[in-house]
Amino acid sequence: MKKFDELTSISFLKDVVKTFYEKIYSHEWIGKYFAEIPQEQIEAQQVDFMVGALGGPKNYAGQLPTTAHNAMMITEQLFDLREELLLESLEEHKASRELIERWLKIDEAFRHKIVKKKISECVKNYATEEILDFPNPMKKVS
Ligand code: HEM
Repeated sequence: MKKFDELTSISFLKDVVKTFYEKIYSHEWIGKYFAEIPQEQIEAQQVDFMVGALGGPKNYAGQLPTTAHNAMMITEQLFDLREELLLESLEEHKASRELIERWLKIDEAFRHKIVKKKISECVKNYATEEILDFPNPMKKVS
């Protein structure tokens, strides 16, 4: 497996992550989950996290993705949507096949810890934390 420096660079990851969160923030559904979070902050956390996970310098000091998403109602469909926007971003920046595969594999490893079937599976990390639950606005009501 390629070492981090042979695989990619921090500046390339920053560019991909910027494109990714542009898509996330402007999306009518997943964007709602980020309404209270400054975009530069989440971009910086995401870059640090991915650099570390891909074998680069370990600068990430935030929560583990499992804990960070405890209080968010994230369905399989929402998780798939995030993955789709990520893949589009990687492809727009002409990322290598290997980088795409390794990035998606890391994210996929968290799927079963982050995705919930029902709202009762959400857990607040602290008493005043709000549970984030937004229905898919694109879903047809029949
Ligand atoms: C549909 C799926 C996802 C949604 C809606 C989502 C949403 C969010 C939101 C709103 C935050 C900000 C939390 C806060 O600061 O209060 C966050 C943080 C974060 N997310 Fe996600 N996320 C998803 C999936 C993932 C995945 C798959 C990963 C990586 C494996 C990931 C990695 C992170 C990291 C590293 C943070 C920063 C944690 C911290 O604040 O310390 N997320 N996410």
